[in-house]
Amino acid sequence: MRLAFLSFASLYALALAGLALVGCSRIPGRPGPGPEVVRPEEVLDFPTLYKANCVACHGENGRDGVAISLANPVYLAFAGEDNLRHITANGVSGRLMPPFARSAGGMLTDQQIGVLAHGMMQQWSKQEVVAGLSIPQYRSTLTGDGARGQQAFGIFCARCHGAAGEGSIGDAKSKTGKIGSIVDGSYLALISDQGLRSIMIAGRPDEGMPDWRSDAAQPMTDQQITDVVAWLAAKRSLNPGQPYPTQP
Ligand code: HEC
Ligand code: HEC
Repeated sequence: MRLAFLSFASLYALALAGLALVGCSRIPGRPGPGPEVVRPEEVLDFPTLYKANCVACHGENGRDGVAISLANPVYLAFAGEDNLRHITANGVSGRLMPPFARSAGGMLTDQQIGVLAHGMMQQWSKQEVVAGLSIPQYRSTLTGDGARGQQAFGIFCARCHGAAGEGSIGDAKSKTGKIGSIVDGSYLALISDQGLRSIMIAGRPDEGMPDWRSDAAQPMTDQQITDVVAWLAAKRSLNPGQPYPTQP
């Protein structure tokens, strides 16, 4: 069971990073040297905004962070600029992705949110990587079936994540040599259904996790993706973090 907490531990690291970030951002700007003091809302260049607000969780240059890689052309084509803007502004309710728009309790202006969303597309999307691909749509409109999801998991995921999603040690497919549990209740409590869908469709190329085309004979269908999300979501425990969660 110790393995079960690998992903969980990294999400804790992420929560701490988030707290540190919020802490820093509340410190009023120190008086700068001379007259060129830049007020926080005047910062309108993408690298500076990304570094100040996103690096802690999404990684330097949008890769190798604890949260989903944003510098992934498949992810960017899948999400699109409107979703990037909306999520950056409003965060993901009940999860570790904070809202950044002032209207939602954050510190950034709508213009700065726009610079971030546009900057991610401009700097990190690569048309040639996604040309001709029909990537599933961002939100699923289908109804998931957990039993079918378990079967699809066996076909597309088990060889890396273990038959029941419990993870494995000494795994050559992972950069770190081990894959943490993705069925631990505490891990699942920290990621939304859309977050799971996004990772399954866009992959984590920075960590060795393939996208929805997988390396199986066929790419996953939207129905299979939705079913696997339903199977994983059903494993969320009501009391995450308790050693003996009550049976669902
Ligand atoms: C070729 C191997 C491979 C396959 C196939 C694979 N994964 Fe992964 N997956 C990985 C690796 C490596 C990681 C990163 C492991 C870690 O850091 O613990 C990962 C991470 C994840 C994560 C956690 C991501 C995060 O950042 O929170 C989820 C969720 C996940 N995979 C779900 C799936 C599902 C569902 C499938 C099947 C549709 C699947 N994976 C197929 C290798 C794979
Ligand atoms: C405290 C950590 C943290 C910070 C800081 C953070 N994020 Fe996130 N972000 C997350 C997590 C965790 C998720 C996954 C949420 C979920 O479960 O769906 C996420 C999700 C996202 C998504 C949606 C991914 C999807 O599923 O489509 C976008 C877009 C995003 N973040 C952009 C940003 C941008 C831009 C910034 C900086 C302005 C930022 N994030 C800062 C933790 C963070």
